[in-house]
Amino acid sequence: MKINKNYLKLEENYLFTEIALRTKKFIDENPDKPVIKLGIGDVTLPLSPFVADAMIAAFQELKHKESFRGYGPELGYGFAKNAVKEYYKGYGVDIEMEEITIGDGIGSDIANITDLFAKGENTVLVPDPVYPLYKATSLMDGQKIVYLPCTAENKFVPIPPKDIKADMIYLCSPNNPTGATFTYDQLKAWVDYANSCGAVILYDNAYERFIEDSDKPHSIFEIEGAKTCAMEFGSLSKTAGFTCVRSGYSIVPLSLKDESGLSLNKMWQQRQTTKYNGAPYPQQRGIVAALSEQGMKDADKNISEYKRNGQLIMQALDEKSIFYTGGVNSPYIWFQCPSGLTSWEFFDRMLNEIYVVGTPGVGFGECGEGYFRLSMFNTYELTAEAMQRFRAWKI
Ligand code: MLT
Repeated sequence: MKINKNYLKLEENYLFTEIALRTKKFIDENPDKPVIKLGIGDVTLPLSPFVADAMIAAFQELKHKESFRGYGPELGYGFAKNAVKEYYKGYGVDIEMEEITIGDGIGSDIANITDLFAKGENTVLVPDPVYPLYKATSLMDGQKIVYLPCTAENKFVPIPPKDIKADMIYLCSPNNPTGATFTYDQLKAWVDYANSCGAVILYDNAYERFIEDSDKPHSIFEIEGAKTCAMEFGSLSKTAGFTCVRSGYSIVPLSLKDESGLSLNKMWQQRQTTKYNGAPYPQQRGIVAALSEQGMKDADKNISEYKRNGQLIMQALDEKSIFYTGGVNSPYIWFQCPSGLTSWEFFDRMLNEIYVVGTPGVGFGECGEGYFRLSMFNTYELTAEAMQRFRAWKI
């Protein structure tokens, strides 16, 4: 056999796997130490009863001969796509039903869609720091990666490079990990750039519901010209607490074509109908409930609760006069490691000395070295306890 040697370019372990392994080792060796996890962005508040009941009702249907269902449409049920369409209308964005596909989350969709692009032949722009999946999948595909340094000086906002003709561009706004969120003007600059060089923007929209500022778009399709250069990926994981349920959607515009006129929408449909059997029926009923008015009211309530945790983290950093960003339009707080420590040194010390787990900034890219990320997704009580330890910590 001939294996894909590009895998040799990957880190030994994916970032969140490495954190989990180090945490497990510490817990195994120190079973009496109460570890608090503020690392991976995993939700802790329960599902909205309204949403959970919709999924339970869907499972109940499957118990009866009259309402039992087998395979669903690979690209998603019409009712689920319609819920996405209506949700976007709320932001003044018109999406065609054929542009929407339902999947099991952004991670798989944004990785699977790379099947559409010639391996080893694309120049890919990847902000640094950013969610590590984009770099990993681009490495697996042997693409040429150009990193866009995002630092405190440019407020962690990537800007289109003047001297590079890109083919693919990953953007995540609000950014994971920094929380930097494009304004309309900043995103318009990216849309214009992508259209000018025939590139495609893969827009990760996982955290849009956390946006508070009114000058920040909730979808790239709010920007004129985006439908010829962008695809967008949405998720219910952090919004409706679906990290376990698994549900997301992708929007690939009908007018998104390569230079020879081939439709990416058509290719994505071919890819999904061939390699995917469709998202589970109960999850798709869950999407409808989660995107409804009641579902979003419940989601927003949970988001406010998480933001209360964020306040605790930011107060602790303020007390220690540590520079940080994020926490307003996103569920992560991104800060400079004190005492000049590297990201992993800080990780190890925080785990060993106050038993708190976070995410080392360097795991999101080289520009993240010397930075650290804390998630606001744990419970209020445990976040408060973690921050009490943090404030008392001599670092
Ligand atoms: C994160 O912690 O960055 C994300 O929650 C991980 C993920 O969504 O896969």
